Amino acid sequence: MRYGIISDIHSNLEAFEAVMTECRQLKIETLLCCGDIVGYGADPKACIHLVKKGNIVSVAGNHDWAVSGRLDFSYFTPNGQAAVLWTRSQLGMEDMIYLNNLPSWLKNKDCTLVHGTLQSPGQFTYLTNIEKASQTFALMENKVCFVGHTHVPQVYIEREGRIYSSDILDIDIQPDCRYIINVGSVGQPRDRNPLASFCVYDTQLEMIENHRVPYDIERAQQKILEAGLPQALGLRLREGR
Ligand SMILES: [Fe+2]
Repeated sequence: MRYGIISDIHSNLEAFEAVMTECRQLKIETLLCCGDIVGYGADPKACIHLVKKGNIVSVAGNHDWAVSGRLDFSYFTPNGQAAVLWTRSQLGMEDMIYLNNLPSWLKNKDCTLVHGTLQSPGQFTYLTNIEKASQTFALMENKVCFVGHTHVPQVYIEREGRIYSSDILDIDIQPDCRYIINVGSVGQPRDRNPLASFCVYDTQLEMIENHRVPYDIERAQQKILEAGLPQALGLRLREGR
């Protein structure tokens, strides 16, 4: 199977469409999403539609559940809270139910998906260090787990009981290793690289690779402004932070 693993689309239709085009060229068979389909950007409805149309299986992100009313979002930044309220105003009942019903994590025969960590999937903890990676490794039943949430591509590798971290995501899967892969963000990268990020996971070739895709950032920014969303949500797209 040749998977495309995406995350943190954040209502950025321009970035999402560019990634979908790249996935077609890369002959991706199945797309999986690590959550945060909505929030921040100006096209929540169109992004949900594209996820459904592409038969993309997704877990919930904190923004998805905040918008649907399943998560208290009082801890979000002011801009994040404004985006939740604006996104709610754009969605109908069917979309709200869809977001509300996204599972907190899932697994198939090849991999596990979660937005933050497996130890608290519905609480959306950031997986940012070896200790948190170790707790997720302890709960993993697959060789590979894909995560998002930080918007920064990263890999944690477990080998003979030791865990290593790297930001180089082009991996030949080794028989004695397990992997937690943060695939980065489609719609709001925060690693100082504004290009949309996603990963390819090829189970036949036993390899994972990170791809970065250019998209029409100006158009996404313009839509954010026109929607009346906080200006900073558009400005940060150019800086990738
Ligand atoms: Fe996110």
